[in-house]
Amino acid sequence: MLEKINRIKEEAERFKAATQAELEEFRLKYLSKKGQLNALFDEFKTIAGEQKREAGQKLNELKNMLTDTFERHRDSLDAEKQIERDNDLTRPGDPIPIGSRHPISTTRNEICGIFSRLGFTIAEGPEIEDDWHVFSALNFPKDHPARDMQDTFFISTNPDIVLRTHTSSVQVRVMETTQPPIRMIMPGRVFRNEAVSARAHCIFHQVEGLYISENVSFADLKQVLLFFTQEMFGEQTQIRLRPSFFPFTEPSAEMDVSCTCDGKGCNLCKGTGWLEIMGCGMVHPNVLDNCGIDSQKYSGYAFGMGIERIACLKYQIKDIRMYFENDLRFLKQFTATGF
Ligand code: PHE
Repeated sequence: MLEKINRIKEEAERFKAATQAELEEFRLKYLSKKGQLNALFDEFKTIAGEQKREAGQKLNELKNMLTDTFERHRDSLDAEKQIERDNDLTRPGDPIPIGSRHPISTTRNEICGIFSRLGFTIAEGPEIEDDWHVFSALNFPKDHPARDMQDTFFISTNPDIVLRTHTSSVQVRVMETTQPPIRMIMPGRVFRNEAVSARAHCIFHQVEGLYISENVSFADLKQVLLFFTQEMFGEQTQIRLRPSFFPFTEPSAEMDVSCTCDGKGCNLCKGTGWLEIMGCGMVHPNVLDNCGIDSQKYSGYAFGMGIERIACLKYQIKDIRMYFENDLRFLKQFTATGF
């Protein structure tokens, strides 16, 4: 028995596995159920008492040695396989997870893109503003109830400093520093002291627009808004202008777009077939004069829309709060929506 053990030991010492098949052969020959090691253990049961001690010891040593040899060769073959895999130049690359733009950014970029094709450039301004730029220059008289249309956040105890309630404040800044022709859009974040709900938020985003030149008419405004709407929502989309009131425009209107349900009635348009998306009108002569532009010589139009609202329509989002929750399951759905 001891001779057999020694012989197997020598064989195993000389063993080298170049392939998985050779390794498997080794396993079958020595370590499997019907292998030589098990045969020796069977033989071990039959040998006489006084030889058992030494044989048992040697047998156990052999068992350890064979398993070690097997594992050593298996590990080195695995490592070789890994190297082969790493060096395979035809292997497809590991995917790099990419982020996605926020739907508000995508929608803002799309709106800006449409107007920039019409020659509008972009203007930006501060989010913390004074009363003049947010209200007074825009023809809101002091204590006029129209100020209540936009519930205002005041900074500290100074009633003159506010968080802008609309980006019309940027229009004032542009008009104060630029003589016509002016053709600009004003994207930005605005703040209103409103209770947060599925349809309203205390922070949201707007894109407003301003065009001032000689002989600008309401027809120009209507045509630009129709072009914008059909670029944004599709060629079949119709617009409707309803008379409205803003202190800074006269006449003023609110613009609706036709709902995709075609007036058949759905939850979104509440069965009316129309969805309101923006306010607009001809810039009030008082506003032009307040900003140092000659209202006898120039006229213009202005419009303003909420980006959240437009994105809700475009992506069928039912709750405005989702934009601000940063839930990755929501955001990841926009990976492929564009620029
Ligand atoms: N500033 C208005 C608002 O925030 C929108 C508007 C802009 C209306 C320009 C008319 C003209 O509600």
